[in-house]
Amino acid sequence: MSKKRIAVIGGDGIGPEVTKQGVKVLEKLGQITDLNFEFENFNIGADHYLETGELVTDEVKADLTNFDAIYLGAVGDPRVKPGVLEHGILLDLRFSLDQYINLRPIKLLDSKFTPLKDKEPKDIDMMIVRENTEGLYAGVGGFFKKGTKDEVATQEMINTYKGVERVIRYAYEYAQKRGKENKLTLCDKSNVLTYSHDLWQRVFKEVGNNYSDVEKHHMLVDAMTMKMVRNPEVFDVVVTCNMFGDIITDLGAEIQGGMGMAVSGNINPEGVSMFEPVHGSAPDIAGQNKANPLAALLAAAMMVEILGNPEEAQMIQKAINLSLAENQTTVDMGGKLTTDGVGDYICSVLG
Ligand code: NAD
Ligand code: IPM
Ligand code: MN
Repeated sequence: MSKKRIAVIGGDGIGPEVTKQGVKVLEKLGQITDLNFEFENFNIGADHYLETGELVTDEVKADLTNFDAIYLGAVGDPRVKPGVLEHGILLDLRFSLDQYINLRPIKLLDSKFTPLKDKEPKDIDMMIVRENTEGLYAGVGGFFKKGTKDEVATQEMINTYKGVERVIRYAYEYAQKRGKENKLTLCDKSNVLTYSHDLWQRVFKEVGNNYSDVEKHHMLVDAMTMKMVRNPEVFDVVVTCNMFGDIITDLGAEIQGGMGMAVSGNINPEGVSMFEPVHGSAPDIAGQNKANPLAALLAAAMMVEILGNPEEAQMIQKAINLSLAENQTTVDMGGKLTTDGVGDYICSVLG
């Protein structure tokens, strides 16, 4: 019997609606396998912020390191200025828990869900390894003569050797063990970002010397978006900076069936990792029981797998595959079920 302690941060909008399904499915998994979960809910998000002015305290951050993993819904609320919750909660957690790898699989599960013509599951199957603690997200910059016609606003892109090296090394390791084509593509903008991405280029080459069995490729990010739509089959593992990883994984979400299908693991290989859907709090559909919970369930599966239980993760994955095959899905996937309805269906076919 193995017990995992999971910190649950539902967050805002559809966040708590979808994590509720994940908790339900993991509880069911606990009933039918030897893997058990203990959940603790953390009241973090817009409501808590509006009531108390608090985002994530140092005590909460310290407490989170005592868990096996963190399961997050989403943050972001129209009542709060953009950036406050995103930086103050999500990015703060990723940064302070040093979750320097962001794993974002782009995997089509069933041909009927991609808008791309003639593409099948074998064609859309890649792993984006996104740098997750620096780049344009570092929050370095400022205003000069703010509010005047002479205003200058800067936002610096921070790239450290340590940060670039560790994500590139992780990506090489990943390409080696993923079992597809042992292929790694560096996605950057080295033709324009002649300092930042020059460092990426050099480190990619240097670290690559230790991975002679990995096929190395390079693609500029603009061409990358074109190629992801035209020939997604050319990609296996892709490593990229924080900002580009954010953008290309929304594109990736769409080619694999939409925002309701895309999953994200914020990984600290030596510490506590955090699993979440790629999508946000979707205020336009919040509170209507119609959000697709599958991304959150895929995040739960990824969490179970990374915690060392691939067979149990596979059980969740199989149940999700069945829900897609049987059209037991929410409206965005062409089905008729509610958020709760999909969670209940997954529980009913699990195992
Ligand atoms: P979003 O991902 O919340 O929504 C984009 C579109 O996709 C919307 O039309 C929404 O209805 C739809 N959508 C998203 N998830 C869905 C689901 N599970 N099922 C069905 N449809 C779904 O992006 P946005 O509208 O740009 O952002 C809304 C808020 O979320 C903002 O405050 C933003 O900062 C925040 N955000 C948070 C995260 C996160 O916490 N990880 C990620 C992205 C955006
Ligand atoms: C994501 C989100 C976040 C990001 C925002 C909300 C800070 O878009 O997880 O993709 O840019 O990383
Ligand atoms: Mn994003």
